[in-house]
Amino acid sequence: KAKNPSLVTRCEIGDSLEEFLTKATSDKGLVRVLMCMGEALRTIAFKVRTASCGGTACVNSFGDEQLAVDMLANKLLFEALTYSHFCKYACSEEVPELQDMGGPTEGGFSVAFDPLDGSSIVDTNFSVGTIFGVWPGDKLIGVTGRDQVAAAMGVYGPRTTYVLALKDYPGSHEFLLLDEGKWQHVKETTEIGEGKLFSPGNLRATFDNVDYDKLINYYVKEKYTLRYTGGMVPDVNQIIVKEKGVFTNVISPSSKAKLRLLFEVAPLGFLVEKAGGYSSDGHQSVLDKEIINLDDRTQVAYGSKNEIIRFEETLYGKSR
Ligand code: AHG
Ligand code: MN
Ligand code: MN
Ligand code: MN
Repeated sequence: KAKNPSLVTRCEIGDSLEEFLTKATSDKGLVRVLMCMGEALRTIAFKVRTASCGGTACVNSFGDEQLAVDMLANKLLFEALTYSHFCKYACSEEVPELQDMGGPTEGGFSVAFDPLDGSSIVDTNFSVGTIFGVWPGDKLIGVTGRDQVAAAMGVYGPRTTYVLALKDYPGSHEFLLLDEGKWQHVKETTEIGEGKLFSPGNLRATFDNVDYDKLINYYVKEKYTLRYTGGMVPDVNQIIVKEKGVFTNVISPSSKAKLRLLFEVAPLGFLVEKAGGYSSDGHQSVLDKEIINLDDRTQVAYGSKNEIIRFEETLYGKSR
């Protein structure tokens, strides 16, 4: 007879965030930035639980209503970057202009972030997150996602996790926020395999994009499991955690791109590709797209190699 599992179980014990980062990179400034961002993510996770979901009566440059929670998370992240002393420039979805954070250019970093991804689904109690990318020196324009030295997301769901990847260290790594406030390494992803899981964003585009409609019909015909929350962070996080699946956010003549290359798409592209997955804007990896304006937007797909080939072939008749 099978024994009952213990009622009190916890994820396997692994390195603390600091132990992991110290082993993974010799760049003390980068460790400092990622540790400080970890502190901010922890505070945001707590604040989001009780913060007002009301609007600040402002609209950001993307036309999104700025909610109190967006601005709170935004403030905490800018403060963390100032406090790190290794951040040169920072900018965010809510403040898409370069802010001088006082850190050095040489040996320092520039950071772009989406303080709260999915802020409009905080009231419905869906999972939300924070996304950020770290570039060396003082440049966030004229660079590509491939130039990132690190990227990460905070996921605020039933669990709070910090998922990060470093340029010079393999894999994407998940840290769980423990009751006592520490981040503990719980998972590493180095391969994204095949599996029938789909996360179809911006389905309204199927109205006048027949190729996207064809792609969606393929998933349905092949009996893929639908797992879409409307929050890009949990939707993309599941690909890394389950090590399978595909996320799509496609445009059409009547439905323009919404997702921001610098603040959302490039950092998540870095995480997915370091995890062994692929990304595409339809023609190339999103990591090869040059950031021309801080507020550039793009369509995107993330997933296993075969899913990205299918995405490019179905939309444009060929894959690179
Ligand atoms: P944000 O809350 O940072 O403005 O971004 C939300 C994004 C992303 O999480 C999601 O994939 C997309 O909006 C969904 O948009 P629609 O609900 O308009 O399709
Ligand atoms: Mn927004
Ligand atoms: Mn977002
Ligand atoms: Mn946001």
